[in-house]
Amino acid sequence: MDAALVDLVLAIVHHGLAFLLAALLAVELALVRPGLDARGLPLLGRIDGAYGMAAGMLILIGVCRVIFGLKGWEFYVQNPVFWLKMAAFAAVGLLSIQPTMRIIRWRRAASGAVPEAEIIALRFWLKAEAGFFALILVFAAAMARGFGY
Ligand code: HEM
Repeated sequence: MDAALVDLVLAIVHHGLAFLLAALLAVELALVRPGLDARGLPLLGRIDGAYGMAAGMLILIGVCRVIFGLKGWEFYVQNPVFWLKMAAFAAVGLLSIQPTMRIIRWRRAASGAVPEAEIIALRFWLKAEAGFFALILVFAAAMARGFGY
């Protein structure tokens, strides 16, 4: 396939996955709020699973962009802004561990209402994820325009 076409397809899929990830995080924040009970947990579990899968695919497509993108991998690996983006992405990943574990525990307990204090705590983790997600966008736009290179 033509290199420019490969670059275009990867860019389209990368953007699609990034928007999907943002949407799934927003849905999680909408679902994890006081009043959440056992009936809401299966949907929350599915959303969280989809979030994990979308993040995994984003890594895959991101790595493909580094290797097969038009700028060549040297453009990225020598660029501190690329690594800042990777660090922000890693932070989002690390911050998502606690919510996933908590959701699994809630689903296992599956008894009536979910403790409000735990819901408030989880919202904190999800909002922190959203904060680092916003940073990824800043670094992505800067990196794509050659800042740091
Ligand atoms: C939540 C995770 C991510 C988000 C939200 C995200 C977002 C973006 C956005 C919006 C762009 C377009 C920048 C622009 O053209 O202005 C971009 C480009 C790019 N991203 Fe990501 N990204 C994520 C993860 C990754 C990962 C994990 C990698 C690599 C392992 C990666 C590698 C790249 C590459 C190589 C480009 C091309 C930049 C260029 O045009 O030179 N991204 N990303």
